[in-house]
Formats: sequence, C-alpha cells, structure tokens
Amino acid sequence: MRIKVILISLMLFTAVNLFAQAQDINKLISEMTLEEKVKIVVGMGFNFPGAPGSQEPIVGQSMDRVEGAAGSTFGIQRLGIPSIVVADGPAGLRINPVRKDDSTKTYYATAFPIATSLASSWDPSLVQKVGAAIGNEVLEYGVDIILMPGQNIHRNPLCGRNFEYYSEDPLVTGLTSAAMVKGVQSNGVGTSIKHFAANNQETNRNNINEIISERALREIYLKGFEIAVKEAQPWTIMSSYNKISGTYTSEDYKLLTQIVRGDWGFKGFVMTDWFGGKDPVAQMKAGNDLLMPGIPQQIEAIINAVKIGTLDEKVLDRNVKNILNVLFLSPSAKGYKYSDTPDLKGHALISREAAAEGMVLLKNNESALPLNENQKVALFGNAAYDLYIGGTGSGDVNEAYIISLDAGLENAGCEFDKKLQSMYKDFIKNEKDAQPKPKNFFTPKPPIPEMQVSPELAYQLAEENDIAVVIIGRNSGEFADRKLEDDFYLSKTEIESIENISNAFHSKAKKVVAVLNIGGVIETASWRDKVDAILISWQPGQEGGNAIADVLIGKVNPSGKLTSTFPVKYEDVPSANNFPGTPKENPESVNYEEDIFIGYRYFLSNDVKPAYEFGYGLSYTKFEYGKPQISSNVFKDKITVSVKIKNTGSGAGKEVVQMYICAPAESMVKPEYELKGFHKTKLLQPGEEELVTFTINPLDLTSFDSNNFSWTAEKGEYKVNICSSSEKILSTVEFNLTEEMIVEKVNR
Ligand code: GLC
Repeated sequence: MRIKVILISLMLFTAVNLFAQAQDINKLISEMTLEEKVKIVVGMGFNFPGAPGSQEPIVGQSMDRVEGAAGSTFGIQRLGIPSIVVADGPAGLRINPVRKDDSTKTYYATAFPIATSLASSWDPSLVQKVGAAIGNEVLEYGVDIILMPGQNIHRNPLCGRNFEYYSEDPLVTGLTSAAMVKGVQSNGVGTSIKHFAANNQETNRNNINEIISERALREIYLKGFEIAVKEAQPWTIMSSYNKISGTYTSEDYKLLTQIVRGDWGFKGFVMTDWFGGKDPVAQMKAGNDLLMPGIPQQIEAIINAVKIGTLDEKVLDRNVKNILNVLFLSPSAKGYKYSDTPDLKGHALISREAAAEGMVLLKNNESALPLNENQKVALFGNAAYDLYIGGTGSGDVNEAYIISLDAGLENAGCEFDKKLQSMYKDFIKNEKDAQPKPKNFFTPKPPIPEMQVSPELAYQLAEENDIAVVIIGRNSGEFADRKLEDDFYLSKTEIESIENISNAFHSKAKKVVAVLNIGGVIETASWRDKVDAILISWQPGQEGGNAIADVLIGKVNPSGKLTSTFPVKYEDVPSANNFPGTPKENPESVNYEEDIFIGYRYFLSNDVKPAYEFGYGLSYTKFEYGKPQISSNVFKDKITVSVKIKNTGSGAGKEVVQMYICAPAESMVKPEYELKGFHKTKLLQPGEEELVTFTINPLDLTSFDSNNFSWTAEKGEYKVNICSSSEKILSTVEFNLTEEMIVEKVNR
C-alpha cells in the first residue's frame, strides 16, 4: 500500500512539476517581444568561411562557445533563456581539436565505427553503450545536442552517405537508432534523428523531388523514425533537404506535425538541415520549429509575415514553445560546468570493441581465419597502411590518432613483411604529396591510385610469407553519390593485384584473406573465388587497426551480420534504373517505383540471388537451432515463439537469431516475408545454449493500407520463420488470425 501511495504522489509531483514548467514557459512566451520570439526560431548563424549570411551574434553571446560546432541558438538573457550549442555527427562529436586562442589543451573526440558498422552488430545494447560514451563527450565539451543518429534507409548502394546510416530495413534502422538515442540522452544531452525524411541520395539533395507512395513512405522510409520516436523520444528531429511529392519536407505540415506529433506523439522540436528548404514562413507553419544554422533574411521574413498577417503569431508561439520545452532540459540551461576532459581512453576501448562486433565474415574456406601466431603476413593494399576509419563531410570526426592495420597487427604481435610495408608507405606518401590541397575539411580528398602488385612481386612475397591479407579501401561522403567504376566495382589495378596475389600464394598452397575497409556495399561476386576468406571491417573508427587484428587473430570471434544486401551486380538492385532520378544530367525528380520492394524484400520476392544476403554473416564457430515453441496457433492479442540456440563449435561465439513473418496477401501485395524481430545471444561457450523468445504483437502482423490510412492485419495463416539470415530459414511455425484486424488508424 505504502509503495502505491509513494508512486501516486511521485506521479502527481511530476505532473504538477511539468504543468508548472509548461505554465512557466507559457508565461515566458507571453513576456517575449516578436523580435525575441523570432530569434528563438532562427539559429545564430554558421561561423564557417563563406557561409551565406552568418548573423552578427548579439552582445555577450559567442557563436563560437565551442569552436567547430555546427551551430547555436540565440539566448534571451533578460528572460533567462540560454543559447544552446549543436554539433555533428553520427560517428562521434565533431568540434575543432585545437582552438584559436587556447594552446594549453586539445579538444579531440573519439572516432567510433560508422553507423553501418554499429548496425551490423545487430546488438542494440552495444549501440546504446557507444551512445552513452558519445553523449559523455557531448556533455563534457559543452555541447547540448548532437546531430545524430543518421538513419535514412539504404535505398541504393551508391548513396554517398550510406555509411552514416544503418540499413535497408526499417526495423534494424529503428531499433539501432532508438538504442543510440537512449545512450546519448542518458547523459542529459540531446540528439537529432536525421534526415527526416527519405534523404536517400546526395545528387541534387537540396531540391530533388521524390515520388514515394504513402505505403512505401509509412512502411519503409518513415518506419525507422517512428520506432526511434516511440522507443526513445529524441529531443529533436532534423528535417531533410529534399522534397517528397512536391513539398520540401521542412515545409510539410502533414509530415512534421500530423504524422510526427499527431500519429507518433513526438514531444521535441524539429530543426532544418543546414540552409535547408526555401520558405521560412512555410517552414514555421509546417511545424519546422527551428531554422538552422540561421540567416538574417529568415528573421526579417518571419517578422514581416506576422506584421502583415500572413503568419499567425500563435503558430510562432507554438514553435517557440516546442523549442523552449527542450531547451530547458539542456546542460546550458542547467548551468552545467563541463570539464573539457571526457574519458577519451575509456571511449577508445569501447570504439575498438564496437568495431570488432560490427565486422562481418563473408567467407572462410578451410578456416583460413583466424591467423595463427606463427604465420608471417604479407599485407597488401593502400588502406592497410592508411585506414579509412570513417566517411567524409559532416559525419567526420577530429580524432587524436588512427591505428592502421599494420600497427594493429604489430600491437597484436603478428609478424608481417616490413619490406612490403615500406613500399606501400613510400608509395602513399608520394601520391599524397602530389595531390592538390583540399579547399576545406568538407571537400572529400580524391582517393590515391592503388599500388600495383605485379606477378613478380607477388611470387617473391609468397616465397617469404605464410599468408596474404589484401585490404580493399573505399571512401565516400556528403555532397556526392558514389560511382560504379573504381568504386562499387573494383578497379583494374585491384583486380589484377588480387589475381597476381592469388596465383602466387595459391601456387605455394598458401591462403589469401580479403579485408573490406568500406563504407557501403561493393561488388564481390566476380573476384571472391580468388580468395579464401573475406572479412568486412567497414570503416571501423580510430581503433580500427587493433579491432581488425582482434578479429583476424581470433581474439574476437566475428558475429556481425549484413544489414543491407550485397547484390551480384548493380543492375540487380531494384532502384538501379531510377536512381538518382531524371533527367540523367541533373536529376530534378526521382520515382521510388520499386515502392516497398527494396533490399531483401525485393530479392526474396523476385527470386533474385544476391552475392550475400541481408542478415548473413559467418562465425569461427557453429550454432544449432532447436525446434521453436509457439504459445498458440490462433492469434488473440499476442503470441510468443521460443527457440534454443546451441554453440556446437569449438570456440566461444555470438549468434544473431532473426524472426521473419510471412503474412497472408489476399487484399494487399506483400514481400515474401519481413523481419519482425532479432536477438543477439550472449557470448556462448562451446556446448552452451541460450533460450531466445520473441513476442509477436498485433502491429507486427500489419501492412499499411493506404485506402483507409490504417495499419491492418489480414485474416488468414501467418508463418513465423526462424532464420540465421534472410535466406536461411532454420524452422517455421504457423498461426492463424481468424478476423481482419485494423490495429491503428493514422492521420490522413
Ligand atoms: C549538413 C548535413 C547534416 C549536418 C548539418 C550540420 O549539411 O546534411 O547531416 O548535421 O549539415 O553540419
């Protein structure tokens, strides 16, 4: 009884407290002048050489409280409203590592693995741990909101920013994003899930018009954001640059108010992407509360609109309130005394652990891996000595150091060919010295050509070493999509080098291991038979060389799974013939004609065989799946399915159990089956087993019915596939839904 009383009084106190705060905010707004309100909804500017119209900050406020941050908001000192600071990005905090007027210390942040790597761990608890570490650096460096996670769907492998995003699947995307948001926000700082919505290409990103069906929007492109909002309540959402069906997302009332707030219950505020959208008044009306980074013309336009009556001041008040509700949660509002000394050492260890957990073993013939300690390694590939630890643009991080793969192998006590190391280091230095200096950090440096490995060199190294490790490096980033030649497909030099290395080492019965230091999908089918093992390291963050070595030597057993399909050829990708839009020279619009059939939803439903499927990944050990137990064969309000996973191999390892549902498709066309749950086991010792239980809720049975704007489950037989990948069904159990269920209706 006592507990109950305490709980009720606690709830009452909180409610009163929130009500009082809301009242305070209403009172605050009633005391604000029109100019002050507009200064709250428009950022303070972008202190970056050449940025259009950076505003003159008002007295006593610095745009640069944290140098290198992406932006800040105006404070209203007379009303006790502080200025808050926002900074990028998805792989860690990006601020200037050194400051103009401060030579006493540095401000490096930790470069974590890229988003795709984190998602490939299929371990939300690990992602949350990474988020907690990133959030600590945000807090201790004096930033209030970090502009991440990026969570747009991998619609096409050539999107230049896929490395900053998680997956082709909305459930993996949503649960990974929710975990990241919870982790970061556990420090009392905010996040900004982005880019809302459907920013799936860089080509003409500021104006491209995307034609997307309501169903594809709801089931694929918005679903990940919906999960993140409902599961983790991010402080903010960042709207995207592009248009959807003719309207800029930052000017779309249906998207930013009806769906996000009306359907999903979002309580934070929406900000634009930097200089995103066109019409500030339309953005205000749509519910895009904050215009970042902010330019003076926006302030004038909004003040003018209120004065001439084309913008109701009540709408402005609503947006100001959305911002202040969040702003008063911030460390700046609480006067937090940040240290500028986050635990970078501890975070580096987390970065290393997370990088290894996201690595995906695609092939391992005759146990080429793990390496054994007395094998001498011939390490090929520019990237082995000059590792790509992350992508370019706003998603980059200013880290204090990078562990390359040669250093990682050295740290692991692996012997490797030092002559070859010197050859690569000299080659890389000469090529880099010959490159033009990039204009600014945003401009991606063009890749240097891969060093050619001749047959003679390959045979000599095959004589002197026991195994070859060949690393393929790729980079991409904001402002540009990827190319097919020398990017998605291997370059001529890479193909010839792999051929020569393969012939030389195989002629001496020695093995060849490929390591993919990539930010997104590449072609593998044409060359994978030339190597004995393939490990995707992704772009693994600053500790990358140590993490790759941890997996290569078996200190960590790889447990990552693909979160996006690797096709045999680019043309197999369902969006290949409409990406990045028409007209080809300078696309103005792109038709998402594949609709909901992207990724494995397309490959499975059209019997197109991929090179490596969604959910695929090998281990150094083996797992056995028991017979699944289902709680009922008739669906009432929920059903559980349990299955035992046993490690039947000789080494400890983790397995990702995937649960897909095949739904009846009488009244609506549907994919073969769709991912509705997954679980990564703990580290199972040989012989150890774990019972995994999935709960199937009504929403898991539904598809979006755009006729009556509802999430509807058709009556009929449902199949539950327990899988180790989207193509490997270990067992199936069935249940029936006797009547159609309209589980949720949404705003039209
Ligand atoms: C960029 C990016 C966005 C980033 C913002 C601030 O253009 O699209 O992801 O957070 O500007 O740098």
